[in-house]
Formats: sequence, structure tokens, C-alpha cells
Amino acid sequence: MKGRRIDARVELEFLRATEAAAIISGRLVGRGDKNAVDQAAVDAMRSVLGEVDIDGVVVIGEGEKDEAPMLYIGEHVGTGDGPAMDVAVDPIDGTTLAAKGGHGAISVVAAAERGSLFHTHIAYMDKIIVGKAARGVISIEASAEDNVRAVAKAMGRPISEITVALLERDRNDEKVRRLRELGARVRLFGDGDVANGVIAALEERSRIDMLMGIGGATEGVVTACAVKCLGGDMQCRLWLRPGAGEEEIAKKEGIDPNRVLTLDDLCKSDLAMLAATGVTDGEFLQGVSYVRGSAYTQSIIISSLTNTMRMVDGKHDLSMFAHLSSLNGAAPSSALKEHATT
Ligand code: FBP
Repeated sequence: MKGRRIDARVELEFLRATEAAAIISGRLVGRGDKNAVDQAAVDAMRSVLGEVDIDGVVVIGEGEKDEAPMLYIGEHVGTGDGPAMDVAVDPIDGTTLAAKGGHGAISVVAAAERGSLFHTHIAYMDKIIVGKAARGVISIEASAEDNVRAVAKAMGRPISEITVALLERDRNDEKVRRLRELGARVRLFGDGDVANGVIAALEERSRIDMLMGIGGATEGVVTACAVKCLGGDMQCRLWLRPGAGEEEIAKKEGIDPNRVLTLDDLCKSDLAMLAATGVTDGEFLQGVSYVRGSAYTQSIIISSLTNTMRMVDGKHDLSMFAHLSSLNGAAPSSALKEHATT
């Protein structure tokens, strides 16, 4: 029924979508083909999302309709029979990691009430993400040093015990230098803003206390859904690539690029959720493994609907996925079909 309130069944349906994306794309891990692994995840995720009883609209997806035929921004997903929701998909965060067989690629879906997620075509944002213990003390307008000092004080720990994760990019070099000079523990990662951002907000996994630096804007909004559920905090500001003409985009979108984006600006709704499944092994989630016709997955569902964070280990009969694999090319399809007939 259209307009129905969001209920807890949706959480598990989103989980099925990230599991399917991880299982299907996981067979292409390490083959050096970013596009193939991403396409496999997109196809599988889209197919499962199509069966979910929501009236969903993709607000963060694979791109514009003319460049991304599936899970494009504005695409309706779900059966249409259910609550109206904004859906933010990242079928693989860390496509390069997955293509190289590296650590930490995940498949993610986040969602919240319709109209509540921030969206822009500007590619990057400067972010600070912390867990509950440091809620209310961060400011994207303050220096990196002041933010770390404030977080250390809120957590009752010396600066030398505060770990700050940053994407290893030239644009973050200056911040890294200053954090090192301050004496904080800096942890650089090559890809995977969402997983590192969620870890920063998860008190249970206190290996990262803060995520800072400039990374993907869409990844920022996806992460915000989890931060909201976990009671953490996040502040951002869009970062315009020099010479990329993004001032024009901001103008068209009516966004002041200097505006501070708070957690509530990124995700207005208090009803939000995030489901993620590991594609390759990482600190956040174990990747998919395949054993004698089964796929083993590890996932997380974080939801403010039920105020839960669940870690979900799955064992899946691969023959159940043969219909999905036929969507994306001969290699995974034939491999899964083998299982379907044995
Ligand atoms: P993809 O999977 O889309 O390649 O994103 C990986 C990622 O590391 C994100 O987690 C991050 O936000 C973004 O790339 C940073 O972008 P860039 O590689 O252009 O600096």
C-alpha cells in the first residue's frame, strides 16, 4: 500500500540486495576489471531492489539516466507498493580494491524517508565523522587540530591515542601533515570512505576515532545514514575541484558551497538505515567466500527504525543466484549455472 509507514521488514530486504551484489560481483574480484565488477554488483542489486515493497527513488546512484542505464538518479525502485523512501546505492564502494583483489570493498545501500537525503552533482566534500562520545564537539569550520583536541577531550583520552583516518590523496596531504605534527595517530586508506566513516561512528570498533578529509560527496551522504542511526556526528562542506566548473553546478542546484552541512542536512529523517556486505575481506566486514556451491557473506544492518545494529553471517546456496548472474555476462553466469545443476 502506497504511503505505508516504513517497517522493519525493509531492513532485511536491503540486506538481501547488498548480499546479492556482493555474491555476484565477488566472482569477478581480482580480475583487474573495475567496470565488470561494478556492473555485476549493479545488476544484482537492482534486481533484488525491484522486489522490495517500497516506493523508492534512487537519489544517489550510478549517475544520470543517459550515462547509467541502471540505478540511475531518479530511477524508481521497489514494487511501488510500500513506503516512500529515498534510496542511496553504492553497489561497490572500492571498485578499484575489488578489481585488484585488495582489502575493504563493500556493497552498500542506505535509505531514509522520501525527500530527506541531501544530493548534489558536486563530486567531493570535506568531512569529519565521529562516534557518539564526541557528538556536538566537531566543527568543519575549525582547524583539524582544534577538532582533534575537542574529540580527545570529549573522549577523555590524550591526543596521542586518537586515531584519525583519511583518504590518501594529495588534496588531504596538508591535513595529514598537521595531524602528524599535532601527535595524533594518522591512518591513511587508499579507497573506501564509507567503511572507514562507519567504523569511526561505531563505538564498538574504536580503531578509528575520527574520519577527516576530502572524499566522495555521495559516499558522505550514504555514511550519514549510518552515523545518524548510531548517534554519532558528522559535519561536511562541499569541496569544488579547481578548474572543474563546479561553481556553476552549485549555482544551478541552489547550493552555497561554503555552507556547513550538518548531519541533519545530509539526512533529515530520523528514520534511516544502512545495509552493507563485504565483497573483499576488510577490517569492517569479511568478504565473500565460495565453498562447494555455497557463498558465505558477512553483512551489517544499522537501522534507526528498530534501533539496532546487526552483524549478519550468511550461507547462501549459489544456485539461488543463477538467475541474477545471467544478467551480467558469461563468466559468473556459467560458474553459477554449474552450481545450479550439481
Ligand atoms: P569507487 O568505488 O566509486 O571507486 O569509490 C572509492 C572511493 O575511495 C570512495 O570511497 C571515495 O569517497 C572516493 O573513491 C574518492 O574519490 P577519488 O578516488 O576520486 O579520490
